[in-house]
Amino acid sequence: MRERLEALKEEALRELEQAQDSQQLNDLRVKYLGKKGPLTEILRGMGALSAEERPVIGQVANEVRGAIEQVLEAKQEQLTREETNARLRKETIDVTLPGRRRDAGAVHPLNKVIQEIEDIFLGMGYTVAEGPEVEQDYYNFEALNLPKNHPARDMQDSFYITDDILMRTHTSPVQVRTMERMKGEVPVKIICPGKVYRRDDDDATHSHLFTQIEGLVIDRNIRMSDLKGTLLQFVQEMFGQDTRIRLRPSFFPFTEPSAEVDVSCMMCKGSGCRTCKQTGWLEILGSGMVHPRVLEMAGYDPNEYSGFAFGMGVERIAMLKYGIDDIRHFYTNDLRFLKQFVHV
Ligand code: DAH
Repeated sequence: MRERLEALKEEALRELEQAQDSQQLNDLRVKYLGKKGPLTEILRGMGALSAEERPVIGQVANEVRGAIEQVLEAKQEQLTREETNARLRKETIDVTLPGRRRDAGAVHPLNKVIQEIEDIFLGMGYTVAEGPEVEQDYYNFEALNLPKNHPARDMQDSFYITDDILMRTHTSPVQVRTMERMKGEVPVKIICPGKVYRRDDDDATHSHLFTQIEGLVIDRNIRMSDLKGTLLQFVQEMFGQDTRIRLRPSFFPFTEPSAEVDVSCMMCKGSGCRTCKQTGWLEILGSGMVHPRVLEMAGYDPNEYSGFAFGMGVERIAMLKYGIDDIRHFYTNDLRFLKQFVHV
């Protein structure tokens, strides 16, 4: 029996020595020390030995077990170390490799300008209103004092969907919708940014789709001077504190009186250059005192209330602010154009 044990030990140690990985080692552990292994079997057969032999063989068996366990443990340690090293070697990272650059998105320059204009008016106590781009003729024209067949409708060539529905040609219908919503309450103080549509041939300064921002204030005792002060405050925050404005008489069916507003040219500070065609002034918006008929149709008594309104083209303002020479750049989404505005 002693020889069997010695032979077992020899064999086990030899096999253990040759184990290549943890898996093999584990299989050997089961093979030699497991419940069905030879060692267990020998120990189980000890009952048949004589009383003198039993402790001797018992001791040898324990020694063999101890020896196998010791080698197992040492081998396990060695293999684990080797496997860890192999994994680390495989996962080595070259920290000197250049990184992969990811293109980050950015706010579109038009939206940047809209946000900037919104911020300025929010600071003056306005709220932002919105309205539909597919609009009823009533809101786009009729309620703005532009009845059917009125010649001033020709100022805005329109995309009609049916006789009564069209793509809005301006953001002014939101004035009417806001007044209706307010049901005669004052003050009304909103700006409305949004897309508008006109039947125009696209070129460097015209687009069939563009963006406007509308403004409307209604209260008691609103005067032309309020309009002028508000717009001056706006352009100075937008273009710089030294910017001046000039109001020229004009005509819009929904305002009376109406005024076209020019700002002093931010390129040449008013001395005359190519951008302002040597005039020193740039037209940036239309405005006026809300026409009594418009007030009345929307449920405000013109004898009690008055208001001013204005409308500006966002592309034009963005073009002036950033020196962009073609309105089509805003819509063709050329990344070389858009990327210039990531950090402005
Ligand atoms: N809706 C006009 C346009 O698209 C711009 C405008 C002018 C809006 C005067 C106004 C205004 O609110 O009072 O040309």
